[in-house]
Amino acid sequence: MPLRKPAKASQFIEHYFLCQILYTLQARGVIEKLRTCHTSEMVARNTRLDPKLVKLLLDFVSQKSSIIERKANGGYYIKDQDNYSRVFWHNLEKYVGAYGPCLEALKDGSASMKKVHAAVDRSILAMSYARCEFPSNPMLADILFQNRIHNLLDIGCGTASLLVTLGVRDKNFLGWGLDLNKEMCRLARNRIHQAGLAKRIRIIHGDGRHASQFVPDPMVKRIAALSASSILNSFLGGKRNNRAISFLSSLKQRFPNRLLFVADYYGKLGSSSSRADHCPETMVHDLVQAISGQGIPPPSLRGWLQIYRGADCKLLHAVEGRNNGIDWFIHVVEL
Ligand SMILES: C[S@@+](CC[C@H](N)C(=O)[O-])C[C@H]1O[C@@H](n2cnc3c(N)ncnc32)[C@H](O)[C@@H]1O
Repeated sequence: MPLRKPAKASQFIEHYFLCQILYTLQARGVIEKLRTCHTSEMVARNTRLDPKLVKLLLDFVSQKSSIIERKANGGYYIKDQDNYSRVFWHNLEKYVGAYGPCLEALKDGSASMKKVHAAVDRSILAMSYARCEFPSNPMLADILFQNRIHNLLDIGCGTASLLVTLGVRDKNFLGWGLDLNKEMCRLARNRIHQAGLAKRIRIIHGDGRHASQFVPDPMVKRIAALSASSILNSFLGGKRNNRAISFLSSLKQRFPNRLLFVADYYGKLGSSSSRADHCPETMVHDLVQAISGQGIPPPSLRGWLQIYRGADCKLLHAVEGRNNGIDWFIHVVEL
């Protein structure tokens, strides 16, 4: 549903309300209930919401979208559960629940940009990642497996979906995950425990920019390669991407000559690329990068090469593709 010119204000408002209501229904546990048919009274009873209001919200969503259907008997349910799958709810939780507060903070004229950036709700962000069983770029697991990487340090491991995927696939796999978000670490440990991999995968809570503090010498020796999936983009922006360059330099210092597998994406917002129009998902993500202080990734391989060269690292190989409107890549970089 592109809102192209000339769109009425009511169309924008309708989209805004639809999105906010859906997220609210998700956060209050209503969506989970509607995996099977429930009346508004049943939903209200289970979620401690006002029954009349629940009915109005569900009617609004069912009349304005195809997500929720109202049956003749007055029950509601999520109609097309294949399309409105975990990824759909992960995105809603991530963009509305976790990054939405940055937009809210922007409304406060006295809030500094630092405060706006800090408004990200990190525990909602962690919950949104816990919904996804698979790594954000499943091809990264394939490439690591094909390259026979048995000992891996995953920086910014999130909820450990990459490490668990590899641990299940490869009986000889040993993994370490480092993440700055405490809640991500907790959810990662749960996932590892549930997969029965606690003896082979360890999660460390810490800042990847200071890996030397968290990765002792004996561990360094055992690590054959590193991965950084959707984390390098959080160090972009600023003067000549200096934060990303110093992050890579610190990794190079601690893990010289190791392979680093970088999974990330090419940015679009603000670039003159004609392909930008075809990537609405990228534009939203770029915007979120900007309002949360992470910076917008370079739009091409050339820009990323400058970052690698700035840290005296060498790009050995690049795999690229497009998925869900995002131009993604996996770069194999020698530290
Ligand atoms: C977009 S998520 C990606 C998670 C996972 N790698 C994936 O691909 O699904 C980025 C992760 O990097 C973590 N992160 C951000 N800055 C970090 C830092 N300085 N050190 C360690 N982890 C960091 C975040 O907490 C978050 O879990």
